Amino acid sequence: MSRLDAFIMRMTAQRDILNSIAGNVVLPDGPILEIGLGNGRTYSHLREQFPKRRIIAFDRVVGAHKSSVPDMENMVLGEIAETGQTFVGCGAALVHADIGTGYDDRDAVTLTWLPQMVSGMLAVGGYAVSGLRLEAPELERLSIPIHLPPERYFLYRRS
Ligand SMILES: C[S@@+](CC[C@H](N)C(=O)[O-])C[C@H]1O[C@@H](n2cnc3c(N)ncnc32)[C@H](O)[C@@H]1O
Repeated sequence: MSRLDAFIMRMTAQRDILNSIAGNVVLPDGPILEIGLGNGRTYSHLREQFPKRRIIAFDRVVGAHKSSVPDMENMVLGEIAETGQTFVGCGAALVHADIGTGYDDRDAVTLTWLPQMVSGMLAVGGYAVSGLRLEAPELERLSIPIHLPPERYFLYRRS
């Protein structure tokens, strides 16, 4: 599969999983955390799908399109392995994490801290949507919409 096809499939999976949560799930109270703001396309989508929620975004620097830059009180700059620690226990309703690189060695380093951090950020009953597989005791893996390839994007519920 070309990298273009893989990218389109990943973005389709990301969007469709987020839409399925917005359309079908009653989320607990709490903010939404966007782990990896990037260009802000997903942030833009989250704002559309969850207009009443506070959305807090994380990245090293602001690189988003100007239409998708959060207010400074909702933008957390720095290395997420460090800045995210402050949000452990924040009771997030939904965490979306799109910080995979496509390099197994780099992603393996991220996976030494990301699953536990995401689990700790979520309220009980909160959901995590991730481009990287997250393995943590309180994260129950859920099936994703049937038209999507099963290992392209991952969905969890915090027990
Ligand atoms: C794939 S992009 C996210 C794309 C985003 N969903 C969008 O709609 O544009 C990943 C982003 O996460 C940031 N990132 C990745 N790992 C990070 C880390 N450990 N700490 C801070 N930022 C990180 C990168 O700087 C990059 O902007």
